[in-house]
Amino acid sequence: MRTALVTGGNRGIGREVCRALSALGYHVYLGSRDVVVGRRVARAIQSEGDIECVRLDVTSGEDVSALSEHVGENLDVLVNNAGIYNALPFRRLSVDDVRQSCETNMLGPFSLISEFLPKMNRRGQGRIINVSSGYGTFSDRISGPAAYGISKAALNALTVVASQEAEGNVEVNAVCPGWVRTDMGGDGAPRDVSEGADTIVWLATRPADGGRINGQLLRDRKVVQW
Ligand SMILES: NC(=O)c1ccc[n+]([C@@H]2O[C@H](COP(=O)([O-])OP(=O)(O)OC[C@H]3O[C@@H](n4cnc5c(N)ncnc54)[C@H](OP(=O)(O)O)[C@@H]3O)[C@@H](O)[C@H]2O)c1
Repeated sequence: MRTALVTGGNRGIGREVCRALSALGYHVYLGSRDVVVGRRVARAIQSEGDIECVRLDVTSGEDVSALSEHVGENLDVLVNNAGIYNALPFRRLSVDDVRQSCETNMLGPFSLISEFLPKMNRRGQGRIINVSSGYGTFSDRISGPAAYGISKAALNALTVVASQEAEGNVEVNAVCPGWVRTDMGGDGAPRDVSEGADTIVWLATRPADGGRINGQLLRDRKVVQW
């Protein structure tokens, strides 16, 4: 059975990615900081494939190492979805605000990629998808709130660097999900979670003979500018 790990799988876009991958028959590791909540969500959305809730605060080295050992060598898909949105303007940000944003939005993905990319390289297959944002793109002048934009721009840089370490059919890409109705996106967002999850699930599951996509930023299944 193919396997996928989704960080921040207990709500929002991550929850929908877990649901969709389960419907496609994947064994899904649903990462959640709160395992009671995560288990309840896993039971509610599980369909064809199993969904197993795993304790994962992406900023915890202990959680990441324990999870890597638990999952073992054969992870097919890693979705770095967990994220936080600090809306403060630049002039009101503290160093700790920026540190926390970067720890969650970039260093968390870095530690998971460090665990799982070598394993994927050994098997010559795997997909890593970093859920980024248009707010972190240089082509749009990092237009979001400062701590969020800086951390997502750093996540984009991590995507490019990690993609250069990807071997065989392993692919590392970033996705902008668009503006999505979640706790983060708010009620006024135009997209529902299935639209937000679509490109992530598509990249995770497209056949290997569809041509390699690696080191790119995608939106609506198309490569867009960083
Ligand atoms: N919604 C949008 O419009 C939008 C637009 C562009 C990009 N994105 C990106 O899409 C991703 C998902 O966003 P969303 O809208 O679904 O957000 P959301 O509803 O706020 O959910 C965020 C998820 O991240 C988890 N999380 C936060 N910090 C974590 C940590 N240290 N360790 C593990 N999990 C952690 C949360 O877990 P808890 O429940 O434990 O807090 C929650 O599951 C994020 O990376 C976001 O930046 C969203």
